[in-house]
Amino acid sequence: VNSEGKVKMKLSLPDVQYDLRPGIVEFRAGHPDLALLPATGVLQATQVVLEREASQALSYGAEQGPGCLIKQLCAWLEHVEGERPPLTQVMITGGASQALDMICMLLTEPGDIALVQSPTYHLALRVMRDHHLELLPVPSDDEGLRVDALEETLTLLQRRGRQPCMLYLVSTFNNPSGITLTLERRNALAELAQHYNLIVVEDDVYYKLWYDTPPPPSIYSLTPSGSAIRLGSFSKILAPGLRLGWMLATPKIVQRCMKSGVLDSGGGLGHFTAHVVAAFIELGLLDQQIKTLRATYRERRNVLVGALKDHLPKECHWLTPQGGFFVWLRLAQGMDSTAFLQTAEDAGVSYIPGARFFADGGGDNYCRLNFTMLSLDEIEQGAHRLGKVLYNYL
Ligand SMILES: Cc1ncc(COP(=O)(O)O)c(C=O)c1O
Repeated sequence: VNSEGKVKMKLSLPDVQYDLRPGIVEFRAGHPDLALLPATGVLQATQVVLEREASQALSYGAEQGPGCLIKQLCAWLEHVEGERPPLTQVMITGGASQALDMICMLLTEPGDIALVQSPTYHLALRVMRDHHLELLPVPSDDEGLRVDALEETLTLLQRRGRQPCMLYLVSTFNNPSGITLTLERRNALAELAQHYNLIVVEDDVYYKLWYDTPPPPSIYSLTPSGSAIRLGSFSKILAPGLRLGWMLATPKIVQRCMKSGVLDSGGGLGHFTAHVVAAFIELGLLDQQIKTLRATYRERRNVLVGALKDHLPKECHWLTPQGGFFVWLRLAQGMDSTAFLQTAEDAGVSYIPGARFFADGGGDNYCRLNFTMLSLDEIEQGAHRLGKVLYNYL
């Protein structure tokens, strides 16, 4: 309040979404390592675009995404996964979140039932809730989504005359559990989807970030009937600020999305950025970047699971994730990770409480720990602090 009695407020306009609090080891983040964001490569790619194709790159873009990126992406997917998607089955998106939002907007109606894996990416649940979908959870175990439970749910819904609008799952290196759906279950799910005419939305943003062995083929590639939609993103393998990703789906779904009013009016999403990413791939920088990320994150994952083993009470449990960004930690039975968070933060360590990743409650004694954004020392320090407060509590 100044001398004239007026209230002056300092407006805080943050630049970025994360909030790194001094003195706290932030296991709660879900971001790539800031130091590994490839500024030099993006600069190099941008220069190529502006010198070579400025007028195309700075124009309104084609609704499907620019041909230069679609072609680069298909060739790159063939090179890393062994299968080249047909050009008609690819669409450039504003990241996986925007793609999910677009799918909900164009392929669902408010009040529709969406089946969601439990646990699953908490912010995808928010996107689906924005579209007023009724979320019905399907449980998972150590092999990923329980396809037997899915079949029971589908049978029950069919008896009631309800057709779910989709199943959403993070099939590979799940956020938050780190678990990958086994090949056997992928095949079973593909069959079930075909039988029940179920659209499977496979959010696959971590697929390329494997640390031990490559994951099994995507559900999309195992579902020739075309009932699967696969979402990819440059957020985790290149930079989230680019807001760019892709979707693989039947030509019919791609066409439906391309014909949306917003793309008709404004042209393809992230058009300039898409040119830059195409040049980035063309320069061979994406493979190089992923190689660096995998080596760095593998080491961080190893340090985190080692430190948890050294510092946490024996009542805690976790599986070593084979890729992705997270360790899914189960605390002692009966502990409430939401209530415990304040105690942990007072001791200088943070996480996301497990309950956020369940559409229907549950997961109370779980915590999601991120290891990609922290240095090896921070990871060690964070596990040490967490262990100390857990021992005190127990
Ligand atoms: C499973 C999953 N899907 C989607 C996203 C967000 O992807 P994008 O940045 O491409 O919107 C995340 C980010 O944390 C994620 O973990």
